[in-house]
Amino acid sequence: MTTAAARIAAVLPDPRERSWFRAPGRVNLVGDHTDYNEGFVLPLAIERACVVAAKPATTIRMRSLDADGVLEVPADGGTDPASVEPSWGRYVAAVAHELAARGRPAAGVDAVLASDVPLGSGLSSSAALEVACALALAHAAGWGLEPVSVAEACRSAEEMATGVPCGIMDQLASVAGVEGAALLVDCRSLETVPVPLPEELAVLAVHSGVTRALAGSEYAARRRACEALAAKLGLGSLRDATMAQVQHDPFGRHVVTETERVLEVARLLPEGDVERIGTVLSESHASLRDDFRVSIPELDVLVEELVAAGALGARLTGAGFGGSVVAVCERSTVDRVVEHASRRYERRTRRTPTAFTCRAAAGAGRIAPGGASVAA
Ligand code: GLA
Repeated sequence: MTTAAARIAAVLPDPRERSWFRAPGRVNLVGDHTDYNEGFVLPLAIERACVVAAKPATTIRMRSLDADGVLEVPADGGTDPASVEPSWGRYVAAVAHELAARGRPAAGVDAVLASDVPLGSGLSSSAALEVACALALAHAAGWGLEPVSVAEACRSAEEMATGVPCGIMDQLASVAGVEGAALLVDCRSLETVPVPLPEELAVLAVHSGVTRALAGSEYAARRRACEALAAKLGLGSLRDATMAQVQHDPFGRHVVTETERVLEVARLLPEGDVERIGTVLSESHASLRDDFRVSIPELDVLVEELVAAGALGARLTGAGFGGSVVAVCERSTVDRVVEHASRRYERRTRRTPTAFTCRAAAGAGRIAPGGASVAA
């Protein structure tokens, strides 16, 4: 049972009168700022998830157990998300809008939601919220979309709610996650291939304690710079650029080398070459720090201390500018790595990190009232 589901069950008089949905957050093993360049990414859906328990109603009415305020908007998705309060409700209003644009009949829900994905941690708390709400809204209307289309609708909703022109990785990882596997996603075709994770490899997510800031404007600026470079090279996207074409442009260099790193890690995982996987992750961090310039000193210190404490490799995960680091280590060393690195990081930055071991979880879907997953 997820904690979010248990928390919801505890406040409902009859949990069984509702339909329950769960959508996971994600940690990206490797491949950042490649998705909107139509490259490859390798995220895994994690056990931490957003859960929504809904019953039919005339409007869309939602209460969150993690934030104040009650959202209430008409069921037809016609509300402009920018005008919605509480602010977390903008994601929900944007999802309703995007689903209506794809043909969802107007049907309301009365819902309670809760999430175990820490906000602003770079682990896709907003994608989890969007996908969980999308499933609840689709179900209430007796209507459905293919999983990839759910991800596309939720990606558009994220952009509408925040103004950030994000890529598809987070929402796709949330819908398409596979237990025990990372997902190799081709962000051009949107094809996902599960790549099982070796049992001995532990994947750690470590939050720096710095909530993502400035991500919106800097993110959009990076995306524009990549698109301008592709246009200058006469390409539709940097996916098709060669190293020779981008060697003097640090942003382009990051995108091309990062895509190579994703494909290399996807090849190394089945071989179980955990040492080399760690090295490639650390190379990814250096590229995000030096070439793509989306790191901050805290993330650099965290990566350094995790590796010094015995992790095989570590890198910032997600957009950067704060949030979390992903580290890989031999399972037997996890406790020691976390303890040593946390102590040193805290001493150097005066910030408290939060670490947890990620288990690759299944993608979003319906769950039984209060917890365990049920077949759709
Ligand atoms: C955020 C975006 C994703 C992706 C990453 C960087 O998480 O939502 O689409 O671009 O940043 O890889």
